[in-house]
Amino acid sequence: MDKLVIEGGKSLRGEVTVSGAKNAVLPILAATLLTEEPCVIKGVPNLRDTNTMLKILRSLGKNAEFDKGTVRVTQAKETNFVADYKLVSTMRASFCVLGPLLGKLKKAKVSLPGGCVIGVRPVDLHLKGFKALGTEITIEGGYVNAVAKNLKGNRMYLGGAYGSSVLATDNVMMAAVLAKGKTIIESAACEPEVVDLAEFLIKMGAKIKGYGTPIIEIEGVKYLHGAEHRIIPDRIEAGTFIIAALITRGDITIKNVMFQHLGALIDKLEEAGAHISRTDGSMRVRSRKRLTPINITTLPYPGFPTDIQAQIMSLMTVTPGISVITEKIYPDRFMHVAELNRMGAHIQREGPHAIVEGIKHLSGAPVMASDLRASAGLVLAGLAAKGLTSVSRIYHLERGYENMEMKLQALGAKIWREKE
Ligand code: EPZ
Repeated sequence: MDKLVIEGGKSLRGEVTVSGAKNAVLPILAATLLTEEPCVIKGVPNLRDTNTMLKILRSLGKNAEFDKGTVRVTQAKETNFVADYKLVSTMRASFCVLGPLLGKLKKAKVSLPGGCVIGVRPVDLHLKGFKALGTEITIEGGYVNAVAKNLKGNRMYLGGAYGSSVLATDNVMMAAVLAKGKTIIESAACEPEVVDLAEFLIKMGAKIKGYGTPIIEIEGVKYLHGAEHRIIPDRIEAGTFIIAALITRGDITIKNVMFQHLGALIDKLEEAGAHISRTDGSMRVRSRKRLTPINITTLPYPGFPTDIQAQIMSLMTVTPGISVITEKIYPDRFMHVAELNRMGAHIQREGPHAIVEGIKHLSGAPVMASDLRASAGLVLAGLAAKGLTSVSRIYHLERGYENMEMKLQALGAKIWREKE
């Protein structure tokens, strides 16, 4: 296992290019199961999670070649309808093959993904949607068996206790595109990654309206064909680099960003006093003066993303004053709090709230990554801290950030990899 070692205190300067969005590419790769024709997906980030999804596609009967950011998916043999525990258990997004398998074959057997460190993460909303389409669902031996004699469009409400669900919206949309008749998903997720999937499905011949709003309408078609698509830039990676510029008092130009996907983050950072200027397709982030504390509440898009909660918390640990961070998507997503406190941060957790008392400096320490975004938060803290920080278990980071340490090195960070 590798760890990242960071010598903090260097201001980051220069240009960085954001990769394609992990949370868009995973369901889009799953959607290639809806056709036997070839699909070409461009702008694909080389991540542990992308490679897991390619392995799953191969196990389900596809050829999937990945070369220089482009994935070509072709049919190798008859589509297999069973997605194995070993693959699905390593990544929750693998559950997203259920929708396309059901749409295409009218049956699927997919392992339940299980919980993870950020919370329980049930799949009841996915199953509710499939049932509404006329699917019989049974759960046996840790697998979901889904059979639809007559996959039929229907109206359904997919809001849960914590709002809409991104992957449930994706999953159900992928089944509904090949169902008979009209499906209406109410309380659909509006995330840009859902929009990217809908646009790919439309290129394949699907009839979808209202995507990007809470009410999606799908008119089922009989057949989908192959398509070519370029993945949108990763808004969470962009957000992480924005915070990297601010936490190191640097000056970074970030390329390949969609400004409109980062509204809530930019609004909050501007409220804190950050200077962010925008040009077409890129942005410049400068830290001119000390920021002031801000209160954050994570919410479904277009609200503040839970996937940037750990990173903004790191920034607030070195922003003198009190900030309150409230997590409304995953109330237990606070594994980074104890690790940041090991670096000298003053954070107190009170249920779904973290009360951060900003101080002048963190001090480097050995810390442990617990999940993908917590790892990113710890790397950012390490960049700002005095002395050496080592972040262990960085395989979490490799799940969702392409060449993170190389990109940071190019911006002047002192960061390197060592064996644990
Ligand atoms: C997606 O997960 C992302 N993953 C997550 O990113 C992200 O944190 C999350 O959306 C929220 O934005 C991918 O897109 C691959 P949800 P997803 O269903 O779809 C509850 C990262 O770091 N819920 O939108 O699985 C759920 O527990 C990852 O890149 C149910 O109750 O999340 C949560 O409280 C981590 N029942 C809320 O809904 C369900 O059936 C929203 O979760 C499904 C979800």
